[in-house]
Amino acid sequence: NKKGFIFDLDGVIVDTAKYHFLAWRKLANSVGVDFTEEQNEQLKGVSRVESLEKILAWGNIELSEDTFMELMARKNDDYINHVYQMDESEILPDVVKVLAHLQSINQPIALGSASQNARTILKKVNLYDSFDVIVDGTNVTKAKPDPEVFLRAAESMEMEPEQCIVFEDSVSGVKAANTANMISIGVGSKAVLHEADYVFKDFTEISVDFLNNLLKNEVK
Ligand code: G6P
Ligand code: MG
Repeated sequence: NKKGFIFDLDGVIVDTAKYHFLAWRKLANSVGVDFTEEQNEQLKGVSRVESLEKILAWGNIELSEDTFMELMARKNDDYINHVYQMDESEILPDVVKVLAHLQSINQPIALGSASQNARTILKKVNLYDSFDVIVDGTNVTKAKPDPEVFLRAAESMEMEPEQCIVFEDSVSGVKAANTANMISIGVGSKAVLHEADYVFKDFTEISVDFLNNLLKNEVK
């Protein structure tokens, strides 16, 4: 019995939200906009373009296309400097254990991320080879909550959407998984991720029994 297991990256495999926060805050402050941790929450799972649009809207700022592009590049340069410092120690607890279990029972594993830096990050934390399929921000045109990224991952794994299980930390990602007709597993707060089929605080709460039970159910 096979399922396709699809993992989001930021906030699921690694805690890069703190680096996105530092880079966006620096950028926002440089154009005179305050940027809080609560605002950062609203950018989780949101593409780079949409993130900058939101920040500018919070500050009531309008920019030319050129300046907009320049700010996006500046934010990413800053973010990448943090990414270059990353290593295996930044993999979130028990992620490796879950991936290893799924590998040991021959389940296909995919990454489904909005990030254009996904491959770089996976290499930095030494998980690049743990994924059979990688679909990221360089492969898709529509951002979550559009299900494109997950549907592409399913297709590449040669799985039907109904056979796929998505791990997500963002509201937009959970919505994307549900729209794709996949089983959604929220990783984070129940209050925030209440639309998910299941929610766990983190991977330490996800048991081998739970994973094996998922494999037994044919449909959602
Ligand atoms: C993920 C993160 C977002 C980030 C987006 C694009 O969804 O949760 O915070 O903006 O990826 O990432 P990128 O690395 O391409 O800027
Ligand atoms: Mg995420």
